[in-house]
Amino acid sequence: MKKVMLIFGTRPEAIKMCPLVHVLENHPAFRTVVCVTGQHRQMLDQILDCFQVTPQYDLCIMQQKQTLFDVTVNILLNIRAILETEQPDVVLVHGDTSTAFVTSLACFYLRIPVGHVEAGLRTYNLHSPFPEEFNRQAVDLIAKFYFAPTDRSRQNLIREGKPEKSIFVTGNTVIDALATTVRADYSHPEIEWAKGGRLILLTAHRRENLGLPMRHMFTAIRRVVDETPDVKLIYPMHMNPSVRETARRCFTGQDRIHMIEPMDVLDFHNVMARAYLIMTDSGGIQEEAPSLGKPVLVMRDTTERPEGLEAGTLRLVGTGEQPIYEAVMELLQNPDKYHEMEGATNPYGDGHASERIAEILETQL
Ligand code: UD1
Ligand code: UDP
Repeated sequence: MKKVMLIFGTRPEAIKMCPLVHVLENHPAFRTVVCVTGQHRQMLDQILDCFQVTPQYDLCIMQQKQTLFDVTVNILLNIRAILETEQPDVVLVHGDTSTAFVTSLACFYLRIPVGHVEAGLRTYNLHSPFPEEFNRQAVDLIAKFYFAPTDRSRQNLIREGKPEKSIFVTGNTVIDALATTVRADYSHPEIEWAKGGRLILLTAHRRENLGLPMRHMFTAIRRVVDETPDVKLIYPMHMNPSVRETARRCFTGQDRIHMIEPMDVLDFHNVMARAYLIMTDSGGIQEEAPSLGKPVLVMRDTTERPEGLEAGTLRLVGTGEQPIYEAVMELLQNPDKYHEMEGATNPYGDGHASERIAEILETQL
C-alpha cells in the first residue's frame, strides 16, 4: 500500500482537498495521512467540520496578524519531523498558499515527491496575486506530478518545459465539492433576509488589496447600496483584522448591508446560488460562480483564471472606486448587460477530479 499525505492549511485548500481526502481514504491502494498546518484556524476548522475530516497532524501555526515570515518559518520548522516520521510516498499540496509553497520546499529538502493539485494557473505577474503567483510557480518547480484543472493550465506547464507525461488534466476538485453542497430547498436566515430584493454577495481579502485599495473597493460598494433601494448585500467577513477594520469603517450604518462571520461552505454555496451578482477578489469563487451562472465582478487587476472571463461570467474591474461603482451600476441598471453575463458554464470539469487524481496516483506510484 502506498502512503499518500495531504498537507493543507487555509479555507480554500480545505474546501478543495477534503473531497480528495474522502476518495483516497476509501481507495484500497492507499494509506492516507492528513496534516494541516493551521495557517488558518477558525476558517479551516469550519471546513474540516463540514466535510468531517479529522487530520492526524495539526501544526497550529496561526498567529493574529501573521506575516509571511511567520507563516513560512513556522511551517518549515514544524513540518520536518512529521515528514521524517511518516516518510510518505507522495505529498499532495494544493494551489498557491504559503502552506503549499513551504510544504513543497520541505519535501524538496527531504527528497519526497510532491503532487500539485490545481497546478499550472498563471498570471506571470509575481506581484499579483501576491505572494500567490510566486508560490504557485515555486511549487511547480518542485512538483513531480501536476494535476492541472484545465487544458489551459496544462499548456502553461508545457510552455515552461515541464515533462508532458507528468501533467494530467483532471478538472478542479472544487466542482466535486460544489456537487455536494447546493440544494434547491436550502434555508438560512440570511437567505430569508435577502428575499424581496436583489442580493449582492461580497468577499474580499487579498493581501495586495489590504489598506487603500480595499477602502476604495468598499466605498464604491457603499455608494451603490446607498443609491439602490432594492439591493441588499451580504459580506461574510474574512477574519483578517485589517479587512474587518476597513469593512466596519465603510459599511457601518447601512441596514441593507449585513457584515457577518465567515459562513460554512454549505451555507455560502447556497447563498451564492441565490445571489443576483457576486463581487469578489477571491480565487475560488471565480471557479464556483460560473457553474452557478452568476455574474462576478472581480476586484483585481489580473486573474490566473481566465476561463471564466472567456465564458463571459467574470469581468475584471480592478480596485479603483469609480470603475467598480460604474461596473456594478451598469449591471444593476441595464438588463441586457446583466443577461450577457448570466448563464451557467463550467470550464472546471465534471465533479470527478478527485477520483481521477486517485486513479493517476495508483498508476504512477
Ligand atoms: C491566505 C492565503 C491566500 C488565500 C487566503 C484564503 C497565503 C500567502 N495567502 O491569505 O492565498 O487566498 O488565505 O482565505 O498563503 N485569521 C484568523 N482566523 C482564520 C484565518 C485568518 O483570525 O481562521 C486572521 C489572522 O489574524 C491571520 C490573518 O487572518 O493572521 C491572515 O491570515 P493568512 O493566512 O496569513 O493570510 P490570508 O490573507 O488569509
Ligand atoms: N467561502 C466559504 N465561506 C465564506 C466565504 C467563502 O466557505 O464565508 C468559500 C468559497 O465558496 C470558496 C472559498 O471559500 O470555495 C474561497 O476562499 P477564499 O476567498 O478565502 O480564498 P481564495 O479562493 O481567494 O484563495
